[in-house]
Amino acid sequence: MKEIFPGVFRQGKRIFTKSITRGFSSYAKSTVKSGRDEFREWDPKKSKPAAAIIRGIKHFPLSEGDKVLYLGAASGATCSFFSDIIGINGIIYAVEISERSIRDLNSTAEKKGNIVPILADARKPEDYEWIEPVDVVFEDVASDEQAAIMVRNAGKFLKKGGHAMIAIKSRSIDVVMDPKQVYTEQLSLLEKSLKIVETVELDPYEKDHMFVVMKKT
Ligand SMILES: C[S@@+](CC[C@H](N)C(=O)[O-])C[C@H]1O[C@@H](n2cnc3c(N)ncnc32)[C@H](O)[C@@H]1O
Repeated sequence: MKEIFPGVFRQGKRIFTKSITRGFSSYAKSTVKSGRDEFREWDPKKSKPAAAIIRGIKHFPLSEGDKVLYLGAASGATCSFFSDIIGINGIIYAVEISERSIRDLNSTAEKKGNIVPILADARKPEDYEWIEPVDVVFEDVASDEQAAIMVRNAGKFLKKGGHAMIAIKSRSIDVVMDPKQVYTEQLSLLEKSLKIVETVELDPYEKDHMFVVMKKT
């Protein structure tokens, strides 16, 4: 296993995180034991950051001890890999609007120990303004307001010098417009308040999606 980003390991074409909770194999494509360590395989077909890594992104700004605001957590699948990367000294504030998903997210959070589920609408950050300033904001919310949600949340919670990552879903913003044009428009909205560091398209893992890494300067 070769560590390609802090806490992210590669073996051939597969990527893994080192589990902070031995025996927790949910959401992993497979698990591999190495001595006392257990590695969870991160599936690029089921998680957009994993797809971005496999597609060769050069910046993946997430590391041990980070505080993260995660928007659109669903049942906590991708959160569980972020949880391994940031470790027991980090924390993920995981915002999810669906009551049904939050039940599964609660159970993931109980097992991982560093995830705080928040039942809320990411369009209304004032509803969770009790959270602390964060090092990273990640957004995976399929909405026509994707860029505005990121700008609002990063403006309120992201530390200066911190990073933001978003998976833009072209079809949620405009079903008929050429995805490239949608990306250009979304990037111009985002770069009004964040510096664009890198972009990568996620096809064929996620059709018509672009992953964007940004920095608050
Ligand atoms: C593509 S799924 C997220 C998958 C998840 N990030 C993962 O990889 O495990 C998008 C999620 O965003 C949630 N969502 C949609 N609109 C939202 C909003 N305004 N605020 C918070 N969550 C929202 C949906 O309920 C859904 O669970």
